[in-house]
Amino acid sequence: MNLSTVIEYDKKYYMNTFGDRTPVSFEYGKGIYLWDSEGKKYIDLFSGIAVNALGHSHPKLVKALKEQVEKLIHCSNLYYIENQAKLAKLLVESSCADKVFFANSGAEANEGAIKLARKYFKSKGLPGKYEIIALTNSFHGRTITTATATGQDKYKEPYTPLTPGFKHVPLNDFEALREAITDATCAILLEPIQGESGVNPLNQEYIRSIRDLCSQSEILLIFDEVQSGMGRTGKLFGYQHFGVEPDIFTLAKALGGGVPIGALCAKDFVAKAFDPGDHGSTFGGNPFACAAGIAVMDVLLNDGLIENAEKVGTYFMESLRKLAQKLPVIREVRGKGLMIGVEFSIDKAKEIKEKCFGKGYLIGNVGSRVLRILPPLILTEQDVDGFIATLSDVLSDF
Ligand SMILES: Cc1ncc(COP(=O)(O)O)c(C=O)c1O
Repeated sequence: MNLSTVIEYDKKYYMNTFGDRTPVSFEYGKGIYLWDSEGKKYIDLFSGIAVNALGHSHPKLVKALKEQVEKLIHCSNLYYIENQAKLAKLLVESSCADKVFFANSGAEANEGAIKLARKYFKSKGLPGKYEIIALTNSFHGRTITTATATGQDKYKEPYTPLTPGFKHVPLNDFEALREAITDATCAILLEPIQGESGVNPLNQEYIRSIRDLCSQSEILLIFDEVQSGMGRTGKLFGYQHFGVEPDIFTLAKALGGGVPIGALCAKDFVAKAFDPGDHGSTFGGNPFACAAGIAVMDVLLNDGLIENAEKVGTYFMESLRKLAQKLPVIREVRGKGLMIGVEFSIDKAKEIKEKCFGKGYLIGNVGSRVLRILPPLILTEQDVDGFIATLSDVLSDF
């Protein structure tokens, strides 16, 4: 089907939640490269919004999925599932969690985290402890409850009434957080590095103070690692940068390398609050999705991708900062590993993104001032050099 027919069908038959999309349809991907339906080649520095951590068509992921699809795609959670047990073991052995539950997306994993936190206090005979404190500008998903948890009005205003029991405080302001806590507070929910609002890492001191406060006040600490998890920041999980352990954390995006899967991970003392029947999922943790998760974990842990994210991410940010010295239109470069935000002093992020696209690079923009770069973790320093030369070229027009 040619591109104009795809666009025609989309306009006619698909709900218009994505507005005017970039007019391209991709057919094939290999490593960091994508090819569109007209045969044009692109370099993907966005990974489907932090999903394709291994790059496209990674041979180990493709092999694992092919083998699994020929054996068994789905079976009910009423039966034991070998891949689910294996992936849960891998995640527990690599993290601070003791137990895992599989969902199908980031929002769903976060819903599970919120349910688990509330159930934990109910099962302790404290049903009045139900309130979740989250941060302004955060993003936690698009279900009613995760949109309520999200600290950006645009995602929730059309859907009032929202889920009761959520409050928001500004990030990196510990006093504001402390003042917001009441006897009803059950959990603090945060992204260690906010992604959707423009790559905003939280301060180490702030996160450590929150951890102490939670431990002293019997409040659960939940990290949403849907975007920051799975090696993106140069560590397997974002919390590992801060020298703290959350009680609950959630994963999705890169966990399946493109196959939908989310995970709710928790310490045993919280996880055991879920009794049989309290939570569930038809698809969550099926043999196919977990085969993807196992292959992704295998490549991340054994093929040096996390170290590469750290090394190439540092090189990328250094190169961007050098460019900023030549082109002061770049105001700030921030992030960790290969989760990078570039803020401009002009409201032209969308135009800059579009110009880069015209030159064959996929990146994202957040609002009018920030570019978001989330490449596959297989990126090399030469790939970075190529993009910096292109960006430099593009910015010289602004
Ligand atoms: C930090 C964070 N949490 C949750 C979500 C929602 O994930 P999903 O779109 O898989 O529901 C996202 C998606 O961008 C995210 O970045």
